[in-house]
Amino acid sequence: MIGIIGAMDVEIQGLVSAMEISEAKTISSIKFYKGILEGKETVIAKCNPGKVNAAICAQTMILIYGIDALINTGVAGGLSKNLNICDVAIAENVVQHDMDTTPLGDPAGLISGLDLVKIPADKKIALLLTECASGCDNTNVEAGTIASGDQFLNSSDVKDRIVSLFGAIAGEMEGASIGHVAYTNGVPFGVLRVISDNADGDSDMDFPHFCALAAEKSIKICREFVKKF
Ligand code: ADE
Repeated sequence: MIGIIGAMDVEIQGLVSAMEISEAKTISSIKFYKGILEGKETVIAKCNPGKVNAAICAQTMILIYGIDALINTGVAGGLSKNLNICDVAIAENVVQHDMDTTPLGDPAGLISGLDLVKIPADKKIALLLTECASGCDNTNVEAGTIASGDQFLNSSDVKDRIVSLFGAIAGEMEGASIGHVAYTNGVPFGVLRVISDNADGDSDMDFPHFCALAAEKSIKICREFVKKF
């Protein structure tokens, strides 16, 4: 069973409407759509923005549906100089940029329990996501670190901090949480994000303008991934 999680309606609606739905069930206040997408058994859910929302969704999905591969799809703010709006970021690993126990002597981003700063995404999934993204309308794709935190990134200073601390290429609010849950449960995971803004002082203007376009592209790539997986 392939699990797909997006934070917003616009990030999953195109997938849900392409799916032959066999069951729609609400668990922990989240609606899970199960069925066949591109010929594969799939479950899709909208988690709402933020790390806790994403973690509730991922853990519930894994326990209820027995997920073999978990994909987080949607839009992100670009952190890499190589990424422009509507380009694609694929996670080689994920980091929680707002996890901070540095006053206790830990490195920034260290996740207690896992004892990791960067959680590795599944290599096979990352490779296939990259291949599917590259094959989509000659898209520019970069693979690297995707950073998540409980804030909409809207400042060059915050952006610079995340880039210098973690070398992240894109910033959003769920991927590293979903990765954390998946990794803890031994479930292979991947994160696919299409850039909707540059995570700088203009992101509040760019995001509403480009979100739908970027999300549409993420849905196209995600469908291709499911078909080939
Ligand atoms: N998702 C898309 N753009 C974002 C941004 N600037 N900050 C956090 N999450 C995002």
